[in-house]
Amino acid sequence: MSYCNVHYLYHFETLSKENRSVSIATTASPRIQTAKSTDPHVSDKDVLNKILIGDCIEILEKLPANSIDLVFADPPYNLQLDGDLLRPNNSRVDGVHQDWDQFASFNAYDNFTRRWLKACRRVLKKDGALWVIGSYHNIFRVGAALQDLDYWLLNDVVWRKTNPMPNFRGRRFTNAHETLIWAAKGQSSRYTFNYDSMKAFNDDLQMRSDWLLPICAGGERLRNKDGQKRHPTQKPESLLQRVIMASSKPGDVILDPFFGTGTTGAVAKYLGRNFIGIERDSTYAKVAADRIEAVKPLTKGEFTPLPSKRDAPKVPFGALLDLGLLAPGTRLFDKKARYEASVRADGSLSREISPHNEACDDLKQGSIHKLGANMQKRKACNGWTFWHYLDGKDLQPIDHLRSKARIELGLVSA
Ligand SMILES: C[S@@+](CC[C@H](N)C(=O)[O-])C[C@H]1O[C@@H](n2cnc3c(N)ncnc32)[C@H](O)[C@@H]1O
Repeated sequence: MSYCNVHYLYHFETLSKENRSVSIATTASPRIQTAKSTDPHVSDKDVLNKILIGDCIEILEKLPANSIDLVFADPPYNLQLDGDLLRPNNSRVDGVHQDWDQFASFNAYDNFTRRWLKACRRVLKKDGALWVIGSYHNIFRVGAALQDLDYWLLNDVVWRKTNPMPNFRGRRFTNAHETLIWAAKGQSSRYTFNYDSMKAFNDDLQMRSDWLLPICAGGERLRNKDGQKRHPTQKPESLLQRVIMASSKPGDVILDPFFGTGTTGAVAKYLGRNFIGIERDSTYAKVAADRIEAVKPLTKGEFTPLPSKRDAPKVPFGALLDLGLLAPGTRLFDKKARYEASVRADGSLSREISPHNEACDDLKQGSIHKLGANMQKRKACNGWTFWHYLDGKDLQPIDHLRSKARIELGLVSA
């Protein structure tokens, strides 16, 4: 990620309503305005690309319902650390000892978890989705709460750390991963998944649910003048880049209720998305605002996901005949040439009798999809990828001809 070196002063403005208030951390940059509201709910324009300081449950309850595309949450882990952890050389391990990670009991943690998850669900759009990251201390409790609240679990992703902290006492395995749960608002949500971009990112192989990434270190780790970490659990930008690239569109609004150093906001800005950050600690919020102010976004051409094949303009099979890309009588085959059919003038296919299918007494003619399914004795078949034509000595899927047709019809640019 590239940064420019401009730093601005901060001021905090207050949005008040019925004695409750939301503070906004913003900068004196002319591009970021603060706004006041007396409405029962803070309008999303007031809070877009800002950090709201306060308790996330209270603030979430003031935000408009159905207004957020994606939530990324890195909640307290409830680590239950018992005293200092020392390295073999007796130096102290910089663990998470802050008040914000302390809960009186599992029950108190569960109540808190259910309340903020419920508040997030209210602000999510119908087709919105949420990510939660956690460790073995809390992620199972979060997972159960998500299902109880009618979120629809899509994946649990394992972030495997290339450089985890060793287990100094040698009494357990090295804890080398964290888990992210990705869930849609509900079972019928048409959530965003940039499948083709993720596949391209992974050398044309489907992206798997185990991600190997380093922890946040080096120049990316925010430190004070004495070299101390500004925040104990700053997440790596590479992790957020993958989450945001995979599951949001440019211009989407991404809300992070536990903003910390603002990793979500910095990456959202970099990738042309909007963010809303909520953080109860104003020192962390100031660190985050400084950091985000310095981010230089990529250009639209750089952050726009690959167009999804599913969203490509529809072209009927008959258009290949209209455009002369296939002629009636052309023989089509499956990838291994076990099935064969010929193209008819009306855009249907007729079955060719072969040793593999001559015993069949069902469909003789049909669409590329119906005949393909019938010949394989399946319920459904994508004829565009099943049927192939001879291109010289090679078999090529007719989907290639569909791509040509889209260009010739002016539906996409070459
Ligand atoms: C695990 S850290 C998030 C770190 C962040 N992902 C980053 O990359 O810097 C959790 C953050 O949530 C904040 N927090 C805890 N409870 C909160 C609450 N009820 N409302 C708002 N923020 C809270 C803490 O102050 C802490 O900064």
